[in-house]
Amino acid sequence: MIEIAPSILSADFAYLGDAISHVESETSWMHVDVMDGHFVPNLTIGAPVVASLRKHTSSYLDCHLMITDPWDYLKDFAKAGADSVTFHYEVGRTLELVEMAHQLRMKAGMAVNPDAEYDRYCEFIPHLDLLLIMSVFPGFGGQSFIADVLGPLAKARKFIDQNNLKTVIQIDGGISLSTIKDARRAGAEVFVAGSAVFGQENPAEAVKALREAAKSCEGV
Ligand code: DX5
Ligand code: ZN
Repeated sequence: MIEIAPSILSADFAYLGDAISHVESETSWMHVDVMDGHFVPNLTIGAPVVASLRKHTSSYLDCHLMITDPWDYLKDFAKAGADSVTFHYEVGRTLELVEMAHQLRMKAGMAVNPDAEYDRYCEFIPHLDLLLIMSVFPGFGGQSFIADVLGPLAKARKFIDQNNLKTVIQIDGGISLSTIKDARRAGAEVFVAGSAVFGQENPAEAVKALREAAKSCEGV
């Protein structure tokens, strides 16, 4: 499986519907970055925007919750039509959040910051639909890829394969035509890309090129 999940964080917030329709021919994933100004030093959007997007698209709305207290908001995201919610390992209460998400009929993802220790978080992998390895410290688009996360990513890939788990590995931060190949080789399947998609003149072509680059590593 290879999917490109364009991050609307890099799109023009005044034209989000248009931004999504520009890439829908090339992908069915849309990454929604939710920031609360506490967990990360930036503020973005929340469930009301997801509800508006839902009316506009049938894409898979992959909501990345960079917020301190996700348990207070999961219901709102479910009501808004989110397909999946990814909360951070760093906020704790992981198993409770996974159960809440599933009860609300959403997929459950756990994100880990670049400095999270694999040996500490790996116990959660079997419970997750998605493991999001952050390749930048969250908060802003357009940062440089932190290659140190490729080691833990490869370990997670091995663990998932050896145990026949269905957990999907996503990577987020600094993904570009030059970094996507290393991330693919390490075992990522879903690649979040903000500036490498919406920062480009032709976002649909950019998605296509990223997918081709990832595919070119198949079987390597
Ligand atoms: C960072 C966000 C990312 C961001 C990625 O905190 O979680 O999803 O939009 O942007 P790029 O691809 O530009 O690094
Ligand atoms: Zn994100």
